[in-house]
Amino acid sequence: MRVVNTVSLIDRIAPPAGANLHHDPPPSVAAEEGERPQSILVVDGLDVNRRLIRAMLKTARYRVLEARRASEALSIISRENIDLLIVDLMMPEMSGQEFCRLVKSNKKTQFTPILMLTSVQGVENEIASIASGADEFLTKPLHPEVVRTRVRAMLRNKAAVDSLEEAETILFALAQAVEKRDQYTGDHCERLAGYSVALGQALGLARSQIVALHRGGYLHDIGKICVPDAILFKRGPLTEEEWVVMRAHTIKGEEICRPMKTLAPVLPIIRHHHEKWNGTGYPDGLAGEDIPLLARILQVVDIYDALTTARPYKAAYTHEQAKAMMEEEVRRSWRDPELVPLFFECCQHGFAERDMELEAASVRQSLDNMRNELLK
Ligand SMILES: [Fe+2]
Repeated sequence: MRVVNTVSLIDRIAPPAGANLHHDPPPSVAAEEGERPQSILVVDGLDVNRRLIRAMLKTARYRVLEARRASEALSIISRENIDLLIVDLMMPEMSGQEFCRLVKSNKKTQFTPILMLTSVQGVENEIASIASGADEFLTKPLHPEVVRTRVRAMLRNKAAVDSLEEAETILFALAQAVEKRDQYTGDHCERLAGYSVALGQALGLARSQIVALHRGGYLHDIGKICVPDAILFKRGPLTEEEWVVMRAHTIKGEEICRPMKTLAPVLPIIRHHHEKWNGTGYPDGLAGEDIPLLARILQVVDIYDALTTARPYKAAYTHEQAKAMMEEEVRRSWRDPELVPLFFECCQHGFAERDMELEAASVRQSLDNMRNELLK
């Protein structure tokens, strides 16, 4: 049987117009000082308390909004971009702690920091408030400078998290732009993310590794932004010089994503998804289990998807043909001899029919948890 040069094939992959990124948009636009005043919502049932907080924050350029009760506050939050909530523990309608839980369980507001205030003494209140989702806690009487310092620090953190999310979203958008250069590959990235997550789950990988696989599905070829169209879409064989440029997409991709600390677990996937089991791949010629597992997983599903999808220069192979080709590659010592059979075992057990929406929802949950960890 003729074995296609899947490395060349994979190198030319780039998904479709309209690829749907399963990456959550940032909940808010990054707030930089000087760009727009940051918004603070003070939630307190007593007019005098709200006025007091407003007066304390007067010296800084904040936009201070007020709410007398929880329902009013939730209504404001639903239509305004709030950067900080200052909430009294004792409120009409519901307690401050119940309010915290509501805010933190809402996808749109879960990263909005909450400063809880109370005149009720006792460390148990502080513990319960923090447990309910409050980020900081101050007991009355309030010292104006303490309030201002705490508010400044919380808003600084909020702006940092917003920037982080914005940078991450830009990267994913960049990856989408790279994929859109090729009009022929359908929902390649989405399928890769779904397949590799399912394979990772079959292997019993940790949640953080599953999240990395999902992100790797979208970001693994981001370095192709550095490969000129004349090389990426060349119909004939590449020259050695052109191959040098093409192979560099792994290293360039790693360089692009390296500044994002949250993408650290994805870097090995980006760099090593073209290594070969016998050490003849690139960029580092790693062999066997020296090739990071997540990169090997992504590679298996990447090859399968490339084979079973039509390209301008080839028709789609059937599942059986793709299986035979990949088994041949295992015999040639190019691919992981355990992972490839496991992948086809997963296929046999309805792997392809897995509920991708469910997978994406579970990964979204993991991403949310990661963000929560960032906020700690
Ligand atoms: Fe690649």
